[in-house]
Amino acid sequence: MADLDVVLIGVSKTFEGGVHAVIDFNAEIEHGEFVAMLGPSGCGKTTTLRMIGGLEEVTEGKIYIAGTDVTDLPPSERDTAMMFQSFALFPHRTVHQNVEFSLKVKGIERRERDRQVGQMLEMVSLDPLADRYPRDLSGGQQQRVALARALISKPTLLLLDEPLGALDYSLRQQMMVELKTIQRELGITFIMVTHSQQEAMSLADKVVVMSDAVIQQIGTSREVYEAPRTRFVADFIGNNNVFEGTIRSRSGSIVFVESKGRLYYVRAPNDDDRDIRNGRPAHFSVRADLLHTGARSDMANQVEATYVATEFLGSLETDVFEFSPGKYVHVEQHRSVSDRVYEVGERETICWPAEAAVLLLD
Ligand SMILES: Nc1ncnc2c1ncn2[C@@H]1O[C@H](COP(=O)(O)OP(=O)(O)O)[C@@H](O)[C@H]1O
Ligand SMILES: [Mg+2]
Repeated sequence: MADLDVVLIGVSKTFEGGVHAVIDFNAEIEHGEFVAMLGPSGCGKTTTLRMIGGLEEVTEGKIYIAGTDVTDLPPSERDTAMMFQSFALFPHRTVHQNVEFSLKVKGIERRERDRQVGQMLEMVSLDPLADRYPRDLSGGQQQRVALARALISKPTLLLLDEPLGALDYSLRQQMMVELKTIQRELGITFIMVTHSQQEAMSLADKVVVMSDAVIQQIGTSREVYEAPRTRFVADFIGNNNVFEGTIRSRSGSIVFVESKGRLYYVRAPNDDDRDIRNGRPAHFSVRADLLHTGARSDMANQVEATYVATEFLGSLETDVFEFSPGKYVHVEQHRSVSDRVYEVGERETICWPAEAAVLLLD
């Protein structure tokens, strides 16, 4: 576990009254990684973060930080710092005093404090505002003070709970870049909780997708995007089409799934214990940007469908087709002016290659 900063083994939390907030959480986080815990509200992200920070007791399992079993240690003995969405700045202290606080508590002498605070304020571009009070700062500036205050004690690990949640869109975009830059420069491990797919995907080296108290998948942004492991991940991340059917046979890494009398070629990852018995009901997922319109002889999968609508998102468009009553496929593409425009009710052939379809766990 030498270069692992955080290890969670079988960590669970059951609150009084029997709420299972976190169930059997297992994860390994390397030194210097930026990890995002991503999932809908109530899935157990904050509880997990608080258990890592020592603000919440674990019901079961073990937590290691930098090789030390911290499961029963108080927050002050964990070498972690925490940053919340609400910033929680001291209103009657200046920026300098806010950032200085934990150094003072530690009894570090004035000159050394000033030096460290100065350095930190420079890093977050707040040095000109050192004497201001929080109420005289913008949201983004307050956020930077909170970050500086959390990092001043040089923790092994910074825990961030929805740190950008209170900021408006453009400020959030800007702060995302700054967070990432600061994290890289300091080389400190960050674990950030968010319900925003975009934040998680653009910031994190490793994404932990959660729902209903359990981990659905751990992987890089690319992995969870390109190879969702479960139905939940396929629905929650990206623009995926999820189909259901019955497994009919298997040939190497390709599984044949029947749906409404038609056979589909689906990729079966061989890295886990997926149940690929014939006759088993199964779901598979195809990314909307891997679907093609128009008949293509080089693609193993094909459906006939009826054009319903188009959703616009800048230069990206998603055409929606109905392929059986109440079942839709989404085809995402960059569209140029010369491209074909569909009429509602028009029939079209939708194709995709075998490797574009991924078998899902339920
Ligand atoms: N102190 C508590 N007492 C009882 N239940 C709690 C407590 N804190 C959180 N929960 C419950 O645990 C579950 C997970 O909550 P939380 O970790 O805050 O989710 P998230 O951060 O993903 O939104 C929710 O059902 C929530 O209501
Ligand atoms: Mg939360």
